[in-house]
Amino acid sequence: MALVRWGLRRHTLHPLKRKSSLLLKLTVVVFSVLLFCEYLIYYLVIFRCHWPEVKMPAHGHQKEPVLKAMFLADTHLLGEIQGHWLDKLRREWQMERAFQTALWSLQPEVVFILGDIFDEGKWSSAQAWADDVQRFQRMFRHPSHVQLKVIVGNHDIGFHYQMSKYRVKRFEKVFDSKMLFSLKGVNFVMVNSVAMEGDGCNICSEAEAGLIEISRRLNCSREVPGSSQCGGGQRLPASAPVLLQHYPLYRTSDANCSGDDAAPLEERTIPFKERYDVLSREASLKLLWWLRPRLVLSGHTHSACEVLHAGRTPELSVPSFSWRNRNNPSFIMGSLTSRDYALSKCYLPCEDTVLATYCGAAGLLMVLTLAHFERLVTPFLGTYLGLKVCTTTPGSGFCF
Ligand SMILES: *[C@@H]1O[C@H](CO)[C@@H](O)[C@H](O)[C@H]1NC(C)=O
Ligand SMILES: *[C@@H]1O[C@H](CO)[C@@H](O)[C@H](O)[C@H]1NC(C)=O
Repeated sequence: MALVRWGLRRHTLHPLKRKSSLLLKLTVVVFSVLLFCEYLIYYLVIFRCHWPEVKMPAHGHQKEPVLKAMFLADTHLLGEIQGHWLDKLRREWQMERAFQTALWSLQPEVVFILGDIFDEGKWSSAQAWADDVQRFQRMFRHPSHVQLKVIVGNHDIGFHYQMSKYRVKRFEKVFDSKMLFSLKGVNFVMVNSVAMEGDGCNICSEAEAGLIEISRRLNCSREVPGSSQCGGGQRLPASAPVLLQHYPLYRTSDANCSGDDAAPLEERTIPFKERYDVLSREASLKLLWWLRPRLVLSGHTHSACEVLHAGRTPELSVPSFSWRNRNNPSFIMGSLTSRDYALSKCYLPCEDTVLATYCGAAGLLMVLTLAHFERLVTPFLGTYLGLKVCTTTPGSGFCF
C-alpha cells in the first residue's frame, strides 16, 4: 500500500519542482560552505587562543598592570603592478577577517605590525600608494581605544639604496613616526631598520641620532632620580624596553630555528646576508648596547625563530600574517608588565583545511547533481571524483 502511494506521489511531482529542489540543495551547500570557510572558521580557530599568564611579583601588594599586545608582521598588501586582482581580493579578505576576529575575541590594547605592510611601497606611484593605504585602513580598522602601531619595512620604503626622503615622509604621514611608545609602564622602541645601514646617509644619521636620544632617556630612567645631569624633565617608566623592528638582529642563518612554522629545512642553513636578510653585526651590537632591550621582536623572514643574543637577550622572529607567504600564518600575543612578559602564538586557520573543505563540498555537489539527474549512475562516482580532486590539492601536513 505504502509503495503505491509513494509511487503516486513521485509521479505527481512536477519536473520543474524537482529541478528547483535540486537548486535549493545546491544553494544551501554552497552558501554554508562559503559561510564556514570565509567567516566562521576564523572564529572557530582564533577562539582557541588565550592571553598568556605573566608572572606577578610574589610579595607585591599591588598588582602590576598587564598590557595586552598583539604582534604581527609582513602583511604585504599587494600593489597594482605585481598583484593579481584575485590574489589581492582573497589575501586581503583573509587578513581582514583574521584581524577583525582577533580584535573582537581577544581585545588587545595595542597592535604592532612589524613592517612590510605593503608589497610595493618601494616603487608605487602616489595614486597607487593612496589606494593601498585606503585598503589597509579598511582591513585593519579598529576601535579608538585600541592603538595600532606600524613599523617600517623594506617593502614600504625600499631597501637602503631605494629608500628616499619622499618615501619615508609619505609613510610617516600615514603612520605615526615616533620611535618611542610607552603604555602601562612598558617601553617600546620602534626602529627603522632599513636606516641602520651604518653608512652615514642622511636618513641613517637622523635615525641614529634619534636612537641615541632614546638611549639617553632610557639610561636616565634607570638612574636614581636627581643623581645626574638628566634634568627634571618627564622620565620614562624605569623598565628595559622591548625593541621592535623589521629586520632581525644579526644571525648567521636560521639553522637553529625549530618548530612547525620555522623556515623549510632545506632553506634553514642558507647563510644570511647582512643588511639584506638581517641587520649588520655592527648595527645589531649598537642597538643592544644603546637600548639594552629585554626582548626583541622582528619580521622580514616570514618564518618563526627564537634566538638568544649574547646569552641574555631573546629575539622572536614573527612569521608572516599573510596566507600568500605561508600555509599557517600566526601572530604573537604578549602579556607585558614593566618587569616581566609572557608570549604565546595564535595560529590562523590553515589554508590546506580551507581548500580541503572546498574540495569536499565540490564532491558533495557532484554527488547531489549526479544522484538527481542520473539515477543509474551510483553516487559513488561523484564521491570518487571529489576525492580525486582533493587528493591533488597542494599542501603538506594536515592542520586546522
Ligand atoms: C646608555 O647606557 C649604555 C650602557 O651603559 C651605554 O652603552 C650607552 O652609550 C648609554 N647611552 C647614552 C646616550 O649615553
Ligand atoms: C646554533 O647553536 C649552536 C649552539 O648554541 C651555536 O654554536 C651555533 O653557532 C648556532 N648556529 C647558528 C647558525 O646560529
